[in-house]
Amino acid sequence: MCGIVGYTGREEALPILLDGMRRLEYRGYDSAGVALLSGEGIEVSRKAGPLDALVQELEGHPPSGTAGIGHTRWATHGAPTDSNAHPHSDCSGRIAVVHNGIIENHEHLRRQLERQGHRFNSETDTEVVAHLLEAKVAERSCTLREAALAVASELEGAFALVCVSSAEPDVIVAVRQDPPIIIGLTADAGFVASGIPALLPYTREVMPLDNRQVAEIRPGSARVFSFSGDKVSVDKVTVEWDEAAAERGGFEDFMLKEIFEQPDAARDTMRSRFDESGGVVLDEVHWSDETLRRITKVVVVACGTSFHSGMAAKHAIEHWTRLPVELDLASEFRYRDPVLDDRSLVVAIAQSGETADTLAALRFAKKMGASVVAVTNVVGSSITREADAVLFTHAGPEIGVAATKTFTCQLIALNLLALYLAQARASMPADKLAETIEAMQALPDQIEETLLLQDDVHRAAKRYAMATDILFIGRGVGVAVALEGALKLKEISYLHAEGYAAGELKHGAIALIEQGVPVVGIVTGQALYEKMLANIAEVRARGAETILVARRGDERVRAIANELFEVPTTKPLLSPVLDSIPLQMFAYFVAKERGLSPDKPRNLAKSVTVE
Ligand code: AGP
Repeated sequence: MCGIVGYTGREEALPILLDGMRRLEYRGYDSAGVALLSGEGIEVSRKAGPLDALVQELEGHPPSGTAGIGHTRWATHGAPTDSNAHPHSDCSGRIAVVHNGIIENHEHLRRQLERQGHRFNSETDTEVVAHLLEAKVAERSCTLREAALAVASELEGAFALVCVSSAEPDVIVAVRQDPPIIIGLTADAGFVASGIPALLPYTREVMPLDNRQVAEIRPGSARVFSFSGDKVSVDKVTVEWDEAAAERGGFEDFMLKEIFEQPDAARDTMRSRFDESGGVVLDEVHWSDETLRRITKVVVVACGTSFHSGMAAKHAIEHWTRLPVELDLASEFRYRDPVLDDRSLVVAIAQSGETADTLAALRFAKKMGASVVAVTNVVGSSITREADAVLFTHAGPEIGVAATKTFTCQLIALNLLALYLAQARASMPADKLAETIEAMQALPDQIEETLLLQDDVHRAAKRYAMATDILFIGRGVGVAVALEGALKLKEISYLHAEGYAAGELKHGAIALIEQGVPVVGIVTGQALYEKMLANIAEVRARGAETILVARRGDERVRAIANELFEVPTTKPLLSPVLDSIPLQMFAYFVAKERGLSPDKPRNLAKSVTVE
């Protein structure tokens, strides 16, 4: 949440900051602001609304300077107004700060500072940092970095802070306690950002700060210190993504581009993960077969879309490994007193690798002695540094707030993990393993075929775009697809949608059905096929109109569908990869029909770094 960018070098900083902010705007778009440092001091410009509002405001009189910081906000404390927009300044206007996270003890600190005579100009938690830095610099006659170290120990909560002072016009100081901070260097410039895409035009060698570290960045160099003040070294991580991957590339929206990138993303996620003898190789998961055989249960933790991929994976892991799988929302997991020990394997799924609740669940699981494997898309993210093993989805950067290609790649990565466990535990006959791997390898081409449904889906979206409620129903792994289809639709089209296990409908939700209510049904499963048809008959009998996802050539389903999306046939446990694609497109086109921007839905941010 919140995009942060900093630059110090020889160029005019403003265009660099605005470009970085544009690349990170998916992290928050309630307001935007910059602080530029020049020989004259600090000039702060802030504006409520999307980044374009700030750009317009600055037209004709751009602030100048060769160092500066920028911020795109996802509001926590204080409404999205000009005065609550970052950067925030101290009383003298000589210090400016941007922040991602929540400072939990801000009220107490603010009262203390006000008693000392500091004047506040916003309702944010962030502003206390600017005044605390001012107080420390005055008290100790110290550098900004020294002041930041002292302030960090007084703050409670989660904070990625980036600050500048007019007394040190080529220095940027960054502080990390939980939300990510990434540094990039070139020969004559220093960059800092809250996300990799902002750094891609300049470098692919990035240095993610660890928790409880402070960095002092100058043109071409950076020094990093622990909160206790010791100088520490930071490893460089090489990012595979190139700059073009984080551009729209001719598509109207990132979401549509990312939907269409799925065949390649799926290929990349599977690349080098099968060996010539027909087995699954996961070099990143370095546990021995013996260790994998000792596991007595698997616990999957995640949020949002990642939770839905975990829900589908539960079926595959249980079926192929015969291990019991528990599935938990990461935000609930640590509060339910779960039973874990050193024979538990926890699978933590997070596209961003930064979701606060998933990280907290991971830490809890480790404390209980469990082994943790993370499934993520972001190299160098927090989850990769804390998990015992990491399985990357190689989906490339996902900028649209709605997860699409990362969902299908998570499904693929989790299926790989399930097969890998089955292989190590010898719980799956060799011929079945080989058949399943073959079916997985066919998925990228089948995704390509599924994308040809675009026109059918667009037509259905036009027909139902003005509905007020839509139900999504499925059975087996289809429940996860239904929940994900409903989430996608509500988050970008603001249309009320509910995902349900079809068999549960008659225990309550069927009361919502009346003449003309659209019901999306996933009817690709084989085991519960007849039961699913019966559930569809029940809603049709009560007036529902049906939008059905079915296997190609299924005439029985065709006969009962008002709109039909026919997907290629695969193994039932793999079918969520294909079934979810028309539903992603459906959500996209409904949002467009309703005149909404699918990439930046209201109230949301791509990476949820607060609990
Ligand atoms: C999905 O479209 C949403 N953007 C959201 O539910 C997301 O999946 C969730 O916030 C979890 O994010 P993560 O995968 O980065 O942990």
